[in-house]
Amino acid sequence: EHASGNEKPGYDFIVVANRLPVDRVEGDDGELSWRRSPGGLVTAIAPVMQESDGAWVGWHGSPGEELEPFENDRISLIPVPLDEEDLELYYEGFSNSTLWPLYHDVIVPPEFHRTWWDNYKKVNKRFAEATAKVAAHGATVWVQDYQLQLVPKLLREARPDLRIGFFNHIPFPSPGIFSQLPWRKQILEGLAGADVVGFQRTADASNFLRCMRRYTDRTVKGSLAIPPVSSEGNSASLNICRAEAHPISIDTRQVAEMAHDPEIMARAKQIRHELGDPKTVLLGVDRLDYTKGIRHRLKAYGELLADGEIHVGDACLVQVASPSRENVERYQQLKDQVELMVGNLNGEHDTMEHTAIRYLHHSYPMREMIALYLAADIMLVTSLRDGMNLVAKEFVAAHTDDTGMLVLSEFTGAADQLTQSLLVNPHDIDGMKSGILRALRMDPTDSARRMRRMRRHLREHDVASWSKAFLASLAQPLPIDSLV
Ligand code: F6P
Repeated sequence: EHASGNEKPGYDFIVVANRLPVDRVEGDDGELSWRRSPGGLVTAIAPVMQESDGAWVGWHGSPGEELEPFENDRISLIPVPLDEEDLELYYEGFSNSTLWPLYHDVIVPPEFHRTWWDNYKKVNKRFAEATAKVAAHGATVWVQDYQLQLVPKLLREARPDLRIGFFNHIPFPSPGIFSQLPWRKQILEGLAGADVVGFQRTADASNFLRCMRRYTDRTVKGSLAIPPVSSEGNSASLNICRAEAHPISIDTRQVAEMAHDPEIMARAKQIRHELGDPKTVLLGVDRLDYTKGIRHRLKAYGELLADGEIHVGDACLVQVASPSRENVERYQQLKDQVELMVGNLNGEHDTMEHTAIRYLHHSYPMREMIALYLAADIMLVTSLRDGMNLVAKEFVAAHTDDTGMLVLSEFTGAADQLTQSLLVNPHDIDGMKSGILRALRMDPTDSARRMRRMRRHLREHDVASWSKAFLASLAQPLPIDSLV
């Protein structure tokens, strides 16, 4: 049974994330409608929610607007409002100009501002309160990602009856980097309010535990962070938190089904034809983000053209860069840099007939993305740091005929699982060039064997098995002897 507003008894399962799976969009005619939100988190959680009878608490993407709970695509949605100031301080500021660069190896310098932190606390409290209001007694609440790291503790204080999980979709930095954060202790204590904190990689979970040991009063034992025994000699009021690696995945079967859809297959052919039927289509698909290594990729590709290793007409690189965090200065700078590079390279290498890089600053629906994956021979995922990278997994899953090859940065979470890809270090431009050439020249039986193995892995480790494993772990009581 569900609550609407303050009625009891509420939802038994709740996902809490900064974004709802849909964003408010206004058409040219002023008509309001809903569009799927960007990013890997929504790709992963939406199918989980469609299979469960729970609710999703999050922001609906339009500042200042307050909405009643509603349903979309079989999911109950509970909107949390953010105003212009929250967007600037909590979202663009603390989440995306402090935490995001800090957690991604300080690729750009993180900024630390107390006003951003104050607003981050305030918005986290708003999410915790909205959740506490609609959760049934003893419900399971699953909090998502770096924007909401204080929610587990706030929720536990308000509702000690809840089972609370947290999943961090992005990397977790080593103590050396994390220590820069002026509010490091509060963030760690916020997370420790969860019974289970999940990470993409084992390395992220162990970074977290090392930070807990160094910067909080908790004792770390194996994967557990145990609170100090209070003066009354009892730690029952504080929870034990367990850190685990749970690499996220995709809806492998759905991707494969779409890849067999005659309309999508025809669209893939059409895309290739419109590109001039080159021998090789290379593809990059990213949010336009400095963590994705787009400039490094363009540099390597440009050098291959200049060296005469690749010829325009024979090959074409399609680069989809979907708009992201457009009010944040670093993202604006990156857009200018990427567009300058694309302009230079095309100016240098294009012919009347053919282009070197087809650059698309758009986001596309899933069906069009699958057609693009099918149209491509070589997928380039060259992130400088990436929590997982679901694009790499989607490309592999879409190639059900085992054609194509994936060139993958070793700094992605996906590199731990897609070990049959061609792994590259995106900082090493020569290494990346060799990786791309190797993919281009690979014997088809070799590439087919690799793609088959990776696809098998994705069939066995899809998004349903990810959520099932996390939630099973969350449901599991702590073994008593682990505390002794
Ligand atoms: O997966 C990382 C992530 O930051 C998600 O939390 C987020 O929803 C997605 O990327 C897209 O970013 P944003 O919500 O800032 O547009």
